[in-house]
Amino acid sequence: MNMNINWYPGHMKKTRESIQKNLSLVDVVFELLDARIPYSSQNPVIDSIVSNKPRVIIMNKSDLADHNANILWQNHFNKEQIPSILFDAISGKGVERLLKLAAEVTEEKRKSYESRGVINRPIRAMILGIPNVGKSTLINTLSGKKGAKTGNRPGITKSNQWIKIRGQLELLDTPGILWPKFEEEKVGLNLAFTGAIKDEILDTDTLALKLLEVLIEIAPDHLMNRYNVELDNKTALEVMELIGVRRGCIVKGGEIDYSKTSNIILDEFRKGKIGKITLELPRE
Ligand code: G4P
Repeated sequence: MNMNINWYPGHMKKTRESIQKNLSLVDVVFELLDARIPYSSQNPVIDSIVSNKPRVIIMNKSDLADHNANILWQNHFNKEQIPSILFDAISGKGVERLLKLAAEVTEEKRKSYESRGVINRPIRAMILGIPNVGKSTLINTLSGKKGAKTGNRPGITKSNQWIKIRGQLELLDTPGILWPKFEEEKVGLNLAFTGAIKDEILDTDTLALKLLEVLIEIAPDHLMNRYNVELDNKTALEVMELIGVRRGCIVKGGEIDYSKTSNIILDEFRKGKIGKITLELPRE
C-alpha cells in the first residue's frame, strides 16, 4: 500500500516547523479527529508536536459515529487526561462546550496574565488535523462564515489572521494540516473507507469489498437493514453481488456491475446512510 502520496520527510519537516511557529502564538490547540476512526485519524507524532500546550480533542463527525463508541472514546481520552468533546462541525453541535473547555484549559494562563495586570486578553486557538477531518468546516462554523476552503496542501497557508469567535476566543484562520499514519494497513483502510484519503490506496472495488468484510463483522444489522440482504455465512463478495442485484447494478448479459455497486457502498457508508458506525474502539 502506498499512502504517503503527498508526504515526504521534507514536507513533514516543513509542516512541523510552520505549525510550531504558529503554536507559539496560541494558548490552546483544537485537535480534530474523525469520531469514526479516532485512532486512525490521529497524526502519529501529535504529542510531540503539541508538547505541553493545552489541547482539546474534537471528535468531529460524531453524527456519523456509533453513540456507544463515542462514549468509550471519550472515556479513553479522559483516562489520558486530554479533554475531548463530541462534535458535528456542520451543525455546530458542541460549540458551547468547546468554548467552555477552551476557557477551562487556558485558565491558568489567563490568571497569570491577570496577575501581571493584563486583563481581557483573548484566548487564542488553532486547529490541527489530517486532511478531510473537517477543519475548514469547523472554522466556517465557528466564524459564522462560508466558503473559506483551506485546501489540503501540507502545512499552513499564508494569511494568518485572527477570527474573533465569541467571548474571549480568537481562532487562527488557517489550520495546521497534519500527515496521517502510514505504518499500519488497517489504519490505511480506515482512512480510505471514511474518505480521508480518496481511493488512493486500493481500487474502488477492492476497497468496497474490504469495507463489506469489516461491516459484516462489526455492523451486520445495519448492513442487512440498509440493503435488505440476509448475511448467513455469505462471503463479502456474495454480499456485494446481492447488493448489486438489489440496487439494479446489472450490465448487459445479467452480470453484476461491480464498479457501480462498489461506489454505492462506499458513498453510502461515507454519508452515514448504512448507519452510525465506528470502525475502531479504544485498544484497552
Ligand atoms: P478539511 O478542511 O479538514 O480538509 O475538511 P473539510 O472541512 O473540507 O471537510 C471534509 C468533508 O467532511 C466535507 O464534506 C465536510 O462537509 C464533511 N464534514 C466536516 N465536518 C463534518 C461533521 O461534523 N459531520 C459530517 N457528517 N460531515 C462533516 P464534503 O464537502 O462532502 O467534501 P468531500 O468529502 O466531498 O471532500
